[in-house]
Amino acid sequence: MLSVAILAAGKGTRMKSSLPKVLHKISGKSLLQRVINSCIELNPDQIFVITGHKSKEVQDSIPKNKKIHFIIQKPQSGTGHAIQVLCKVVKKNEGKLLILNGDVPLIKPETLKKLLNLHDSKNADVSLLTTKKINPFGYGRVFLRDGFIERIVEEKDCNDQERQNLLINAGIYCFNWKNLSKIIDDLQSNNNQKEIYLTDSLSLLKNSFSLEVEDNGELQGINNRIQLSMCEEIIQNSIKEKHMLNGVTFINKASCSISEEAQIGKDVIIEANTHLRGSTKIFNNCVIGPNTFIENSHVGLHCEISNSTVYDSQIMDHIKIGPYSHVRPKSKISSYSKIGNFVEIKNSRIDEDSKVNHLSYIGDSIIGSSTNIGAGTITANFDGQKKHQTKIGKNSSIGANTVFVAPINIGESVTTGAGSVITKDSKDNSLAISRSKQVNIENWERKKL
Ligand code: UD1
Ligand code: MG
Repeated sequence: MLSVAILAAGKGTRMKSSLPKVLHKISGKSLLQRVINSCIELNPDQIFVITGHKSKEVQDSIPKNKKIHFIIQKPQSGTGHAIQVLCKVVKKNEGKLLILNGDVPLIKPETLKKLLNLHDSKNADVSLLTTKKINPFGYGRVFLRDGFIERIVEEKDCNDQERQNLLINAGIYCFNWKNLSKIIDDLQSNNNQKEIYLTDSLSLLKNSFSLEVEDNGELQGINNRIQLSMCEEIIQNSIKEKHMLNGVTFINKASCSISEEAQIGKDVIIEANTHLRGSTKIFNNCVIGPNTFIENSHVGLHCEISNSTVYDSQIMDHIKIGPYSHVRPKSKISSYSKIGNFVEIKNSRIDEDSKVNHLSYIGDSIIGSSTNIGAGTITANFDGQKKHQTKIGKNSSIGANTVFVAPINIGESVTTGAGSVITKDSKDNSLAISRSKQVNIENWERKKL
């Protein structure tokens, strides 16, 4: 039987934040969510998340899961106190108990499996993940004797000599739960922080083993925003390296961010300051950026998107977008179309080979294929209370600065006169024009003042 406990009750004072520490995000996911995701890979029987500071906010951030149970620790008197609470609330203290700090988010399931294997093979009371850090500041130092763990001393309780020890406690332990529960209430708070430390339990258990792993960033704990940014960098480097090895070019890697879920095809060029978020998928041979943000969108083959923002939309093949366009949610731009300079599209379908080239707003609209929308055209979709639809048929030619007052239905092959305000439906093959006739007054001179 495998149980998991994740410590997530602390405030995270060193983050200097009103948000609980474990809810800070790296690459789009909270620290706590990342630790939970790694644990779920081990297929444990139950996961306990210890919450305390802003516990409701922390609990609400985690999607419902039958295996996850929340345990409240109030007040938060230290990591050892958190486990004392757990051992009391959960009656059956049996099997293995894997305990993880909620602020060590990059831990990989494979490393956890290695720890569990060591634990089983040694029939241990406790097994601990350790690593040697060049700069171990802030971590508990691990002291070994005859292959067993003698004790862990927290940074704040170390003397100068102890502080020289580079072997640190990663905050990830596997306990024989029954044996842990026998000594858990013996933990005291006679230390410099006046807290009950879980780390003191290591000296109270006999069969205590450590698994030292290489410091590859996986065991980086997050206590402040510098460490938060270090973890972001570690994760971003690994995401971008994966894409580069699969045939993606980054012109300026450091200025870009890519979500873990994003998929990018071959021979895609990512220009500087480009950000792909959520489940965005970019197909082969696209050039994306510079200065582009795309979230939860599909971008087909051979597209070019520069200096633009795209949310929750479908961009098919051979499409150019930008510079300076905003494609808002629920839009579908069909192949060979162009969304040009300073254009906003919202909840609209633009069919194949159509062009919205300059300075337009197209909202709640359906635009047929091979239609040209003249510069400055606006769909007036909002009557002050409701949004209405504009439909424009295929092969139409919309004059510059046309305003369509929705709801409105324009047929196929319709031409509108430049500067028209169109309020009535138009049939196929018609010209719609609504503007006052031009008057030319001959031989006219400005009055002299
Ligand atoms: C802890 C370890 C230290 C280790 C380091 C690894 C202790 C005493 N020290 O120090 O040896 O090197 O992690 O990153 O355990 N928490 C609770 N309840 C509490 C206090 C904390 O749930 O009463 C949670 C926090 O929310 C956090 C985790 O426990 O997720 C660790 O607490 P933190 O204060 O960050 O401990 P560190 O000083 O990093
Ligand atoms: Mg910590």
